[in-house]
Amino acid sequence: MNLYKLLCRPLLFLLSPESSHHLAITALKFAGLPLISTFVSSAYRRKSDALQVKTMGLNFSNPVGLAAGFDKNAVAAAGAESIGFGYVEIGTVTPLPQPGNSGKRLFRLKPSMALQNRLGFPNVGMKAVKQNIRRFRRNGYLIGISIGKGVSTPLDKSTDDYIACLDELYVDADYFAVNVSSPNTSGLRDLQHKAYLLSLCKTLIARSQELAQSHSIAARPLLIKISPDLSNSEMDDVLEVAISTGIAGIIATNTTTSNVETFGAVPGMGGVSGRPLSKRSTDLVRYISQKMSKRLTIIAAGGIFTPDDALEKLEAGADLLQIYTGLVYEGPSLASKINRELLKSGRFATSSKLAAKSG
Ligand SMILES: Cc1cc2nc3c(=O)[nH]c(=O)nc-3n(C[C@H](O)[C@H](O)[C@H](O)COP(=O)(O)O)c2cc1C
Repeated sequence: MNLYKLLCRPLLFLLSPESSHHLAITALKFAGLPLISTFVSSAYRRKSDALQVKTMGLNFSNPVGLAAGFDKNAVAAAGAESIGFGYVEIGTVTPLPQPGNSGKRLFRLKPSMALQNRLGFPNVGMKAVKQNIRRFRRNGYLIGISIGKGVSTPLDKSTDDYIACLDELYVDADYFAVNVSSPNTSGLRDLQHKAYLLSLCKTLIARSQELAQSHSIAARPLLIKISPDLSNSEMDDVLEVAISTGIAGIIATNTTTSNVETFGAVPGMGGVSGRPLSKRSTDLVRYISQKMSKRLTIIAAGGIFTPDDALEKLEAGADLLQIYTGLVYEGPSLASKINRELLKSGRFATSSKLAAKSG
C-alpha cells in the first residue's frame, strides 16, 4: 500500500500545484535537518557500492538524481539526499534574481500523469544560491548546477550570463548543466542551433579551464541539456559540437512543446513533463548512446515513474537518471524504490560497469 498515493497526494492535489511544490520543498528542508536526516536516511537511503556510478571523473553514490527545476534555489538538496537521491541538479540559476513569468504557470495533467509549466526560471540569483549551497554542502554528495540566461538578457549577450554563473559558482558545483532547452525563456532554444552552440560551448569550456587553473581544482564537467523536440539532424549537430568542444555529456531531456494538446495540455502555456515524455526521451538516449558509444555521459530525464522506467533508460544507454514529475505523482519513496529494484535486478551491475569505464 502506498501511503503517499492514498493519503498525501489527494491532499496535496487539493492545493494549487505551486503551493504543493512549496510544501514539498518545506518537507525536504525538514528532512535535511541534521538529526531528522539521520532518521529519514535510515528509512530511505540505500548504501551499496553496487549502486555507485563513476563517470566524468565523479563518483555518484547512486544513479538517481533530482532533476533541475525542483530545487531551484539549493534549499532542499540535503533533504533530497536523505530520501535517497544520489545527486541533485540545482537551478536553473541566472546571474540576477528573477520572479519568473507572471500568472498561472504550473498545471497538473492528471490523466496523462504529466505537468505543464511556464515558470521561466524563477530563482534567487547566483549569489544567493551560492550561499545556500555553502550552508549544506557535505563531502561526497554531488551537486550539479543548471545555468541559464536571465529573462532580460538579449540572446546575443546570453554567453555573458552563462560565464557569469560559471565564474560565481565554479568551486561550488561538481558539474554544470548548460540549459539551452527550456521552452519558457524566449529564444533560449535557439541556442541549440549549431553556430550558436559551437560558440557558446567553446567559450564556456575555455573559461572552465581558466577557472580550474586559477582555483587549482579539477575542471568541472559541462553538460548540455537538450530539448526532446530536436530533429535527428539537429541532434547530430549538438553531438558534433559536444565532441568537438570537450563537453562531457548530454542531459536528455527537458520538457516538450510538441503536440501537447494530445496530452490535455494547452499549447503556448509551457513545456510538458512526465509520462508523455517517456518514450521520446528513451528514444533520444538510445540514439545518442548508439552514435556516441560511451564518448559522452548520458543523463536521462523524462517520465521516470517506476523502477522499470529507470531500467529501460539505463538499458537504452543512460549512465545516470533524473526525476521531477515522477516525484510529484509517486511520492518521496521513488528514488529509494528505484535503487532497491536496481540492486535486486542485478541488471544494474552491468550498467554500472559500463558507466565506470567512461569515468
Ligand atoms: C515545474 C518544472 C520546472 C522545471 N524547471 C526546470 C529548470 O529550471 N531547468 C531545467 O533544466 N529543467 C527544468 N525542468 C525540466 C526537468 O528538469 C526535466 O528535464 C523534465 O521535467 C523531464 O523529467 P520528468 O518527466 O521526470 O519531469 C522543469 C520541470 C518542471 C516540471
